[in-house]
Amino acid sequence: MYSVTTTAPLRLTVTAIPKTVYVGSLCVLAGGQHYSTLPSIKARQSPFTSTNRRSISSASPKSAIKEFFPKVETKQIIETETSWQHPVYTEEQMRSIHTEHRQVRTWSDRFALSMVQGLRWGMDFVTGYRHAPKGQDGKAVEKFKMSERQWLNRILFLESVAGVPGMVAGMLRHLRSLRTMRRDNGWIETLLEEAYNERMHLLTFMKIAEPGLFMRMMVLGAQGVYFNGLFFAYLISPRTCHRFVGYLEEEAVLTYTRIIEEIEAGNLPGWEKLEAPEIAVKYWKMPEGNRSMLDLMLYVRADEAKHREVNHTLGNLNQREDPNPYTAVFRNSEKPRPSKGADLMRPTGWEREEVI
Ligand SMILES: [Fe+2]
Ligand SMILES: [Fe+2]
Repeated sequence: MYSVTTTAPLRLTVTAIPKTVYVGSLCVLAGGQHYSTLPSIKARQSPFTSTNRRSISSASPKSAIKEFFPKVETKQIIETETSWQHPVYTEEQMRSIHTEHRQVRTWSDRFALSMVQGLRWGMDFVTGYRHAPKGQDGKAVEKFKMSERQWLNRILFLESVAGVPGMVAGMLRHLRSLRTMRRDNGWIETLLEEAYNERMHLLTFMKIAEPGLFMRMMVLGAQGVYFNGLFFAYLISPRTCHRFVGYLEEEAVLTYTRIIEEIEAGNLPGWEKLEAPEIAVKYWKMPEGNRSMLDLMLYVRADEAKHREVNHTLGNLNQREDPNPYTAVFRNSEKPRPSKGADLMRPTGWEREEVI
């Protein structure tokens, strides 16, 4: 499916790039000079001479990405390993993912959806995200075009808050188990793993672009509000919170689908030759020849689709009694069952009668 080509090893030429502060789509240098951000991405790509973005060699470092947070090594430690190994996705599985919406059925669903819609408006405002109304083309669409920098701002903001719900829910279920001295029935690890997965999304995109002061302040404020809001909301109605995350992930799938379409349409030239950072290659076990930015977006979208399914499923369950179907051993293993991978996706979640 992919052409087999060779690519010259890339050298990190960006070490000389001064510390930057990004405000909106403008990159403000510490020395007072102003650059647009797109050229800064292009500048990093100058070592590319080949027109091919896929390679067959992994012998030398190929990333053109600056090490914003280099791996910590000590005298005795080379690196740390995760116990949450990511399932392997095939390209076919990732390509089959699409946007989907679970219809509102209860008042709790309606409340969750309206919260997501409100939040979406806020995020669109903060990250400068806009898209053309349906049915428009030509010049009308031109003014809604998002640059690589604008997409990254949006992604960084989204991913920095996306890791909060799983951690809050996991933490509260953990504490409840301790204080009531009752089993949790396998929910905690799925929830914490989701938070870990979202943090890996953030770290991956942090390797590609360092957020500026404005974005960091927005993230700080958003985390404070979001964490506390979710903490109390989860104490009151965990079911509504899972539905809320399910709807939020529907929006995440939509966002990454748009990015994928934009890359494929050639509207984000700065990402065409950029390869996924090492941290992503390792985490998703990205095979050689499938390590472009486009591939990376396919992996991330598949994760978001899995979160969408998991949270809609958890939102269908009895929050106190039901075991987690994603860690369960089923009596009848012949039937299709919820899985951690992308082999079986249920965009609107599994209904309780199917899994409990
Ligand atoms: Fe994410
Ligand atoms: Fe997500």
